[in-house]
Amino acid sequence: MSRVVLAAAGDDLGRRVTAAADGDVHVLPAGRLPGDPARLFEQLVDGELPEVLVIGPEAAAAEVLGLAARLDVQCPGISVVLLARPEPELCQAAMRAGIRDLLDPGADVDEIRAALDRAAHAAAGRRRVLRPADDTSRYTGRVITVASPKGGVGKTTIATNLAVGLTSSAPQSTVLVDLDVQFGDVASALGLVPEYTLPDAVHGPASQDTMVLKTFLTQHPSGLYAVCGSESPAAGDTVTGEDVSRLLASLAREFRYVVVDTAPGLSEQTLAALDRATDVVMLSSMDVPGVRGLRKELDVLRELCMIPAGRHVVMNFADPKGGLSVRDVETAIGTGVDVVLPRSSAVPPSTNQGVPLLENGGRDPMTRELRRLVSRFAATPLVGSSRYRAKHRAAS
Ligand SMILES: Nc1ncnc2c1ncn2[C@@H]1O[C@H](COP(=O)(O)OP(=O)(O)O)[C@@H](O)[C@H]1O
Ligand SMILES: [Mg+2]
Repeated sequence: MSRVVLAAAGDDLGRRVTAAADGDVHVLPAGRLPGDPARLFEQLVDGELPEVLVIGPEAAAAEVLGLAARLDVQCPGISVVLLARPEPELCQAAMRAGIRDLLDPGADVDEIRAALDRAAHAAAGRRRVLRPADDTSRYTGRVITVASPKGGVGKTTIATNLAVGLTSSAPQSTVLVDLDVQFGDVASALGLVPEYTLPDAVHGPASQDTMVLKTFLTQHPSGLYAVCGSESPAAGDTVTGEDVSRLLASLAREFRYVVVDTAPGLSEQTLAALDRATDVVMLSSMDVPGVRGLRKELDVLRELCMIPAGRHVVMNFADPKGGLSVRDVETAIGTGVDVVLPRSSAVPPSTNQGVPLLENGGRDPMTRELRRLVSRFAATPLVGSSRYRAKHRAAS
């Protein structure tokens, strides 16, 4: 398979891209751009994935952005380069959709070559992160860490709902880990009374054997598994970053999704969870102090190169009367917002009763947006498929 796939381009651009990629290009037939990554892959004869998808100016912007956004979530190991007139609105929308580079359609061979190199480099980096650390592992699930600089912004609400939502999309697929080691409240949010808690799961026999570890998990009636938080802050403090790293690696060998709830800020345990994560849900309340905190945390994580390939920015407590728009937030944090959750009177009773909103078939705006967040992960996560891993492991 070619390293580069070209779509929606005329002959002249096709020649420049081919020259820039030293001939290593698979050109898709003219016609509609597939809206869905699976359709795109059907057109690649041997089914192997490229590193870079180059899209020419002949595709409609809405189609390009839709496909790029889905690739960004489902196949982070592919970078998208778009050749289109760089209007300001398109630039911003392209950034939100995760498009790697935007070039003028008249770009010359050298400019295209430089963009292809940058995109291939980024794709290789993302695949390295996604590749399981231990090649002997039989399965590596997605580790989704929910984090925020501040407390009380909805991490536990989102982590519990995400975990319950993923469980209903694939039974027995998901485990939720409470890494708010001192004051975790996952058990309360799920109405569970755990027999074992986090320290039991990381010390003693459970830390030696994955089969044993499974017996230390608490099961929720939905089919979700949980590692609940410790009984006291002192017991929680015995859990180290190394313990967390080992625990998440073991769970990812058993479960398709490992959802991690964290304490506010960047504790040793949270950093270990981010280090193991394939995805981070970065969360903030939609107010100025929250957004400032988020920006600082994102800056620190960028410096540490600890933002995983899957990055999902979520705003909670959105309120039209709050005076802050999504655009304001995006300007402040320098990146796109993916999901906006409204302030909702349905949430406090659900927390207090220990019944996540996604356990019920509610239709209120909060439940709807939570489902949208779930679908970002539940929709055919190609990055976790053995075929994807095997091909790219061999290629890199
Ligand atoms: N969108 C929302 N609307 C109204 N209340 C919310 C919303 N999200 C969270 N809450 C409430 O805010 C409180 C803190 O949420 P929680 O998920 O425990 O935050 P964190 O884990 O970040 O400390 C809880 O009482 C929860 O019910
Ligand atoms: Mg919490």
